[in-house]
Amino acid sequence: MSIAGYYDARVQEEWERLEASWLEFAITQHFIRAKLSPESRILDLGGGPGRHAMALAKDGYSVDLVDLAPANVNFARQKAAECGVRLGFAITGDARALPSIESESYDGVLVLGPLYHLTEREDRNRCIDEVRRVLKPGGFGFFAFISTYASAHYAVKHMEQLPALMPLLREASGRESYIVDPAKGHFTKAFYIHPSLIAEEFEGCGFQRVSLFGAESLFAQSELRLLSQSPETRSELLAFAIAQAEDMAALYNSEHIVFVGRKPGSAA
Ligand SMILES: C[S@@+](CC[C@H](N)C(=O)[O-])C[C@H]1O[C@@H](n2cnc3c(N)ncnc32)[C@H](O)[C@@H]1O
Repeated sequence: MSIAGYYDARVQEEWERLEASWLEFAITQHFIRAKLSPESRILDLGGGPGRHAMALAKDGYSVDLVDLAPANVNFARQKAAECGVRLGFAITGDARALPSIESESYDGVLVLGPLYHLTEREDRNRCIDEVRRVLKPGGFGFFAFISTYASAHYAVKHMEQLPALMPLLREASGRESYIVDPAKGHFTKAFYIHPSLIAEEFEGCGFQRVSLFGAESLFAQSELRLLSQSPETRSELLAFAIAQAEDMAALYNSEHIVFVGRKPGSAA
């Protein structure tokens, strides 16, 4: 099954995913908002059903969404209308080539999905080049990766999955990067990379490194248990998790790791 087919077969599940993955959502939102103020123009590239896009649009950001999977794009449009949230546009497209999007038109581009589904370096570079093209000088790109340790965190978080995942974990152990495949029991085709090698993906790509943070910080494996804590405890934990998110320990403990890069130059 294609990547788009995989995501289109589970749009509702993908919309709900970030409720359980509450740390990934809240920590990523924190880092986006730390760099981009309301009214900034944002492109959510690989935005799926639009959780990040809608949360930002609701708070005054001007957000467009592009995704490979048409049912996700339709879902985002309908959900935005239902919730009374305005998305600029939501269209189907491939992150490697965005011919309908003007150069230097965004303050921020979210790439929270495409890079870990582009298994060839050349394709990831094409995506990074497109993001740099559509960003204004001084704009920020937020690029998510999946860690080579992600399957281990996931397996322990969902303990009933541990026996099935054990052979995959052994295979992943000690690797710098590897491609996971549904034929071997993984979710869909994806590229997993060791946290220490993510910054190297951007060498020579024209981005200044601003941040590298673990989207689940120190708590990937306990995320579900923490979900049942009181709102006060959760918000205290979240503040702690945000403060630690750029620490090496958080990078190694997270399933998703986000590189934040700034396009050189200053906004006009
Ligand atoms: C795990 S979902 C993430 C959705 C959303 N960004 C989030 O953070 O929850 C990955 C998304 O990336 C999209 N995607 C994968 N490869 C893509 C590509 N080459 N161009 C555009 N979107 C892509 C998929 O269709 C899917 O909606």
